[in-house]
Amino acid sequence: MSVRIAPSLLSCRFAELGREVRAVDEAGAEWIHVDVMDGRFVPNITVGPLVAGAVRGVTERTVDVHLMIEDPDRYIGDFAGAGADVITVHAEATVHLHRTLGLIRGLGRRAGVALNPATPLAAAEAVLGDIDLLLIMSVNPGFGGQTFIPGALERVARARALVEAHRPGRVEVEVDGGVSAKTAPALVQAGATVLVAGSAVFGHSGGPGAGVEAIRTAIAGVSWRGGAV
Ligand code: DX5
Ligand code: ZN
Repeated sequence: MSVRIAPSLLSCRFAELGREVRAVDEAGAEWIHVDVMDGRFVPNITVGPLVAGAVRGVTERTVDVHLMIEDPDRYIGDFAGAGADVITVHAEATVHLHRTLGLIRGLGRRAGVALNPATPLAAAEAVLGDIDLLLIMSVNPGFGGQTFIPGALERVARARALVEAHRPGRVEVEVDGGVSAKTAPALVQAGATVLVAGSAVFGHSGGPGAGVEAIRTAIAGVSWRGGAV
C-alpha cells in the first residue's frame, strides 16, 4: 500500500484556511485531516461540519475527519453531508462501535476506528471486518504540537500485523501525533500507510508545502518491513 501524508489543519492559520488547504494540496498531500473536538471527550473544542464542508469546497483530496467527540452517531450524517470521505470515531467514545461504523459505511463513507495510547489494540479486533482504517494515536488527543509517545511505534507494527492477518491490503493504518520527518521513516517501516502531521507541516519554517515535502523526502524509498518490530 502506498503511503499518504495527511496534514492536520489543527495547526494551520485558520483565518487563511482555504489558502492553507491549497498549499498542502499543491504540495502533493493526498489527504487533508480535520480534527473535530467537543470539549468533553478531549479538553479542547475545534470545528464542526461547516468547516469540514468548507475544506471539501476547496480540494479534491481525501477529506479525513477525525472525530474526538462523545456519542459520535449524532453527527455522522452531518459530516457525511459535508463531504467527508473518511470518518473516524474513537473506540472509547461510543458504546455501540459496530453500529456506529455501520452508520458511516451505510452513508457510503470510509470508516475508521481510533485508539488512544492506553487502549488495547484488541478493542478494534472484533470490528476489523467493518473498517477501512485503524488510527493509532501517538499522543493523547486534544492538542497539536505534542511529543510522540515512543511506545506508539510498536503499536503501529502490531496494528499492521493484526489487519494483515484479517484483511490483507485492505485496511489503512494511520498514525496521529508528533509525526515529523524525523519520526515518519520508522512509522512507515512499522506499517503505517497514512501519516497525520500538524505542527511539522504548518509550523515548518519554509511553509506548509515545504513541510509536506520534508516528510515526503524522509520516507522516500522506505517501506513496511513486514511482521512486527
Ligand atoms: C491531536 C490531533 C492531531 C494533531 C496532530 O489530538 O488528533 O491530528 O493535530 O498534531 P501534531 O502533528 O502537531 O502532533
Ligand atoms: Zn487527528
